[in-house]
Amino acid sequence: MSTTWDTFERYRQRGLDARRAGQWQSAKVYLLEAARAILELSKQAQTKELTDARQEMAERLLDLARDCDNATNTKRQKGDRGSSAEPSSAGDAGASAEQWIVKEKPSIRFSDVAGLDDVKEEIRLKMIYPFAHAELAEKFGIRAGGGILLYGPPGTGKTMLAKATAGELDATFFRISPADVLSKWVGEAEQNIKKLFDTAAAEPRAVIFIDEIESLIPARRDEGSSVMQRVVPQILQGMEGFDKQKKSQILFLGATNVPWQLDPAVLRPGRFDEKVYIPLPDLPARVRMLELYLANRPIADDLDFSAIAETLAGYSGADIKYICDRSALLPFLQSVAGRGEQMIGGETVDQVIAETPRSVSPEAVKRFDDWAKALS
Ligand SMILES: Nc1ncnc2c1ncn2[C@@H]1O[C@H](COP(=O)(O)OP(=O)(O)OP(=O)(O)O)[C@@H](O)[C@H]1O
Ligand SMILES: [Mg+2]
Repeated sequence: MSTTWDTFERYRQRGLDARRAGQWQSAKVYLLEAARAILELSKQAQTKELTDARQEMAERLLDLARDCDNATNTKRQKGDRGSSAEPSSAGDAGASAEQWIVKEKPSIRFSDVAGLDDVKEEIRLKMIYPFAHAELAEKFGIRAGGGILLYGPPGTGKTMLAKATAGELDATFFRISPADVLSKWVGEAEQNIKKLFDTAAAEPRAVIFIDEIESLIPARRDEGSSVMQRVVPQILQGMEGFDKQKKSQILFLGATNVPWQLDPAVLRPGRFDEKVYIPLPDLPARVRMLELYLANRPIADDLDFSAIAETLAGYSGADIKYICDRSALLPFLQSVAGRGEQMIGGETVDQVIAETPRSVSPEAVKRFDDWAKALS
């Protein structure tokens, strides 16, 4: 399977998170995976500039990974934040907009995202109905578009939902992530935002997704994120201006898994005024995930989705996807080893679950729940 930008982002994010938490061993593994992924992506790049920028990013990630090795031996003293070591100027600043604006037409739909029914309905109300029935909406004075902020623990489907929204709307999906901004926007942020907005406005419908939007927080002494600090406020200002151009149907989605770090500027009216909690999956959502990720594979008759879903309480969607993939891998390997075609059985799944820790701690869940409560 070819490496996707998503894969790279996940590894990179996990690596930086682990690094921030001082978990050097796993940070190293993830950062090496991220470096491998971005190298792979550099081969797929269409221009030399992009290839170079990605290779440079790979080198920086390798440096970070090496750094983790050192850190295992010498305990660190200084206040060391992950983002400070992110690539800050791997710049192909002169690159033209076509080269860095990554647009895609996602094919995934809401039905591919388990659970989150309230959230989907909210997005329908705000976006899908007014978009789909533009004339009626105008008659009734209902305005389409605007901004929705998705917040919640890692791996709960925020990015996936943003893509699925574009899929539902048949809209073009533009994604802005810190990795992009840091590697490609250096020096020309302002012009680039304008180009991005112009490109989006030229589409009949567009979803602009800003991932890791908390990167906007002023990070003192933190050289590395100064680009983000300049860029995101500009995007936010642009959003306000955008609303007034009636013609363009553009939805802004933002996502964060550290909402308490958000700058209040993000939440000002006319920006991301709708805030939606994306929690860990509830029981029906977990059953649905098992259907999505196991039902099409060779499963044993004794496999009981509801029972497994009960055991999976506290796991994130990403954890559950991992558990399903892993549960398929073991019988596959046995089948390959000539033991006849094996099935995915309850025992294997239980074993994989037992070996897989929950990626979100109960304390972290509580922090999100409390934050969500305080907001409502
Ligand atoms: N609700 C869900 N339904 C189906 N699959 C899910 C769901 N949530 C997560 N997954 C699986 O986990 C993967 C990662 O999810 P995603 O990247 O959307 O999480 P996220 O909330 O954006 O995480 P982060 O905060 O770390 O960016 C998805 O690609 C999908 O395979
Ligand atoms: Mg995400």
